[in-house]
Amino acid sequence: MTQARITGSVRVGAVVGRPIGHSLSPVIHNAWIEALGLDAAYVAFAPADDDGFRALIDAGRAGCLAGLNVTAPFKELAYQLADEASPTARASGSANLLVFSEGRLSADSTDGVGLLRGLDEQAPKLELAGRPVVLLGAGGAARAAAAALAGAGAEVRIVNRTHDRAVALAEEIGGGVSAWTDREAALRGATLLVNALSAPPDLDVATLEAGATVMDMTYRPLTTPLLAAARARGLTAVDGLSMLIGQAGPSFAAIFGVPAPDLDVRPLCLRRLGEAG
Ligand code: ATR
Repeated sequence: MTQARITGSVRVGAVVGRPIGHSLSPVIHNAWIEALGLDAAYVAFAPADDDGFRALIDAGRAGCLAGLNVTAPFKELAYQLADEASPTARASGSANLLVFSEGRLSADSTDGVGLLRGLDEQAPKLELAGRPVVLLGAGGAARAAAAALAGAGAEVRIVNRTHDRAVALAEEIGGGVSAWTDREAALRGATLLVNALSAPPDLDVATLEAGATVMDMTYRPLTTPLLAAARARGLTAVDGLSMLIGQAGPSFAAIFGVPAPDLDVRPLCLRRLGEAG
């Protein structure tokens, strides 16, 4: 990659999280920057703690950064520090995108858009409006997914180990709840299963009907045991990389002020992940 296009006017974006070393976001955004020939760079920061994150936000407000993508464990703090937030960020109480403009900080969440884009790309025949969808999880990742799925008109049923969290999230988005112990029965009749757990789910997908789609937000490994089981049953599998790339597009546009180019970054990401592509 040539650095010759970087001048004193460079626009700097970054992903911030801890740990961050394996993030694919710099791979994606720098490929797009290069394709467009922008005077821009996208780097990564791993603040030691919340105070370190706040210091980075202060630097952004002072004009040193165009914007940030935010990942664990700073998504909630990112939302709290913002001056204004989009309805999607407010719905999840967290932000994966921060944009600086003249000292002000705007928060947004593009994870939900990313999820819908991933589904659209890898399960193009899937219809969500009026269809039952089972969402595993009620943490940060699940909140973004729940809002997006409900927004697309799906009848979202939330299943989570800690039942109270499932109930709280279901109330917020107007969805239903099934008990964790009944999670396999809950799959009956579902059009889509989305896994938003931070640990591999202990779940047999045999109760899903033929024609159902299974999405796993995890992309390490790309083919999770859940997706492998879905494929073995002939179900449509949607991987977490499609969601990651799906959220990167609107993030890029917000940070760099131009739409992401029509460059498919998936092969690049697959190579970084050590997968064929
Ligand atoms: P994230 O930001 O990745 O969503 P999180 O907010 O900590 O992380 O949420 C983690 C999710 O995975 C939660 O739904 C959590 O369930 P609880 O609400 O019961 O904690 C779920 N989870 C994590 N480890 C789990 C395990 N071993 N079995 C079942 N669910 C698990």
